[in-house]
Formats: sequence, C-alpha cells, structure tokens
Amino acid sequence: MQVHTQIGTLRAALAECRARGESVGVVPTMGYLHAGHMKLVERASGENDVVVVTIFVNPTQFGPNEDLDAYPRDLERDLAQLDAFAVAHVFAPTVAEMYPQPLQTSVDLAPLGQILIGAARPGHFRGVATVVTKLFNIVQPDRAYFGEKDYQQLTVIRRMVADLSSPIAIVGVPTVREADGLALSSRNVRLSPDDRNAATVLARALDRGEALLRAGASEPAVILDAMRVIIAAEPRAELASLDLRDAATLDAVETIDARPLVILVTARFGDVLLIDQRISARTQCDDVGENFA
Ligand code: PAF
Repeated sequence: MQVHTQIGTLRAALAECRARGESVGVVPTMGYLHAGHMKLVERASGENDVVVVTIFVNPTQFGPNEDLDAYPRDLERDLAQLDAFAVAHVFAPTVAEMYPQPLQTSVDLAPLGQILIGAARPGHFRGVATVVTKLFNIVQPDRAYFGEKDYQQLTVIRRMVADLSSPIAIVGVPTVREADGLALSSRNVRLSPDDRNAATVLARALDRGEALLRAGASEPAVILDAMRVIIAAEPRAELASLDLRDAATLDAVETIDARPLVILVTARFGDVLLIDQRISARTQCDDVGENFA
C-alpha cells in the first residue's frame, strides 16, 4: 500500500495503472475509519483492479461553528486498518496541498444542495461537491463508493456527475450498523456512554417508520408523527429534522405511492449531530441511483 500526500505522486502511480488497462475505484473518506468504510473498500476491491482510499478532513464543508477541530483524526490507525484490505493507494493530502490558494471556483447544486441538511448547514454541500470534484479530477476513477448513511450527500454526488457528464459510476453502499442498530459514524466516538445508548432511538424510529410504510400508510404525516413520538420519548435526543422524500430526487412527497422513498433523520445527542436514513418502498426497490445514470 502506497501512501501519498501529494497529488503529483498519486497521479503518476495511477497513470501507470491505467497504462496497464487497470480499472480504478476510489473511496473518499475523512478518515477515522470504521467498519462502514471497510464495506466501501471491500465493495471497491471486488469491482476494480486498483483501489484508492482518500483521507482528508475537508475544511470547506464545515461551517464556522461546526466540529472541524473536534472531528476525530488518526492517520496511523487508519493506515493500520487499511493494511488488511486490498488497497493499493492511500491519498492523505494536507489542506495546503488541496487548497494552495483560496478557491474562486466551486460546485453548487441548487436546490438539491440547499434543502434538508443543506438548509441547516449552508455551504456544506458546496464544500462536499467541490472537494469530491477535485478528488475525482485527481484520481480519475472508473467508480466511486459512498455510504447510504449520508444519503443526501450520495444523492448530491449522483446528481453532480449526471449534470457534469462525469464518466464515473457512483456506487451507494448500505449503512453498516452496530448490533443494537446504531449506524456506524466517525462521530460516534464523541458520544458520551449515555448518549451512545440513547442514539439507538434513531434506528428504532426508522424501523417503525418503515413498518408503517410497508403496512400501507398513505400519509407521510402519519409515519413521521409516529417516529416523532418514539424520538420524543428519549430525553437525550434533540430531534433536528425528520423528512420523508422521494429516494431518487429528494423531492417532497405528498401522497405515498409505489416509488422508492427515503426517511431522513438528524438529531443531536449532546453536541454531536447524528444522521440516519432508511430507503423503503411498498415493494422492495433496487438501486435508486440508476435513475440518474
Ligand atoms: O462523507 C465524507 O466522509 C465526506 O463528506 C467526503 C465525501 C469524503 C467529502 O469530504
């Protein structure tokens, strides 16, 4: 496994791979890797000759009062974990390498990047879309792997490559959970033990929402109200948002029909904002991302 901190050395190594006709898959991350990231790596290893994992805590996707400084970082630990997997290259640049000068160019999606989490975190998806575009330009992958947990991010990136005609297949990988349902997240280490236990309420609420959906509820409000009751019963949870949306476009849904839907939830436990989601439909749906292919 080669570790690159510079764009030039990674590009040179990947040019050799491409000259041999090898396919390249990229797994963009902000590090502090967990089993959810490793699922992305496993999937990428099964579908590509060469896997590149990028590790970069991107400052431009954090707002002024957000947790950029508190975001967990441990490159040695990340590299030790990746060693056990078929990863050819790790790209772990500095901020100066990625942003040698203030950007005059950015990638903005409207309205998709400005609704839901984008409304609560203005500029967040501009930061994400711009850094992912830079990573795509640096790596030039055939395929890129993202977790479904950050569902709006996945939808934004799918839409971005469709809009910009980028020749990259975006692969969404299902959320990995602890045995008690908590979605794996690098931010989980910042939860106090009590908040860690309380956070399982999100998975329980999503289970209930999905059950109602499958049982035939036709009003989004019925599903969301039932979920709100479950979350309100957990005093440590401060619900920030709860939405039922079209799974392909994130458009609001008035009446539930056969199309794939996604339930999106964000909640604070102490000062940690957790997000979770559940893709569902009356009938089991396949990869909704195909809609943008
Ligand atoms: O999901 C993440 O870890 C980040 O938002 C990403 C996609 C690596 C961009 O910084």
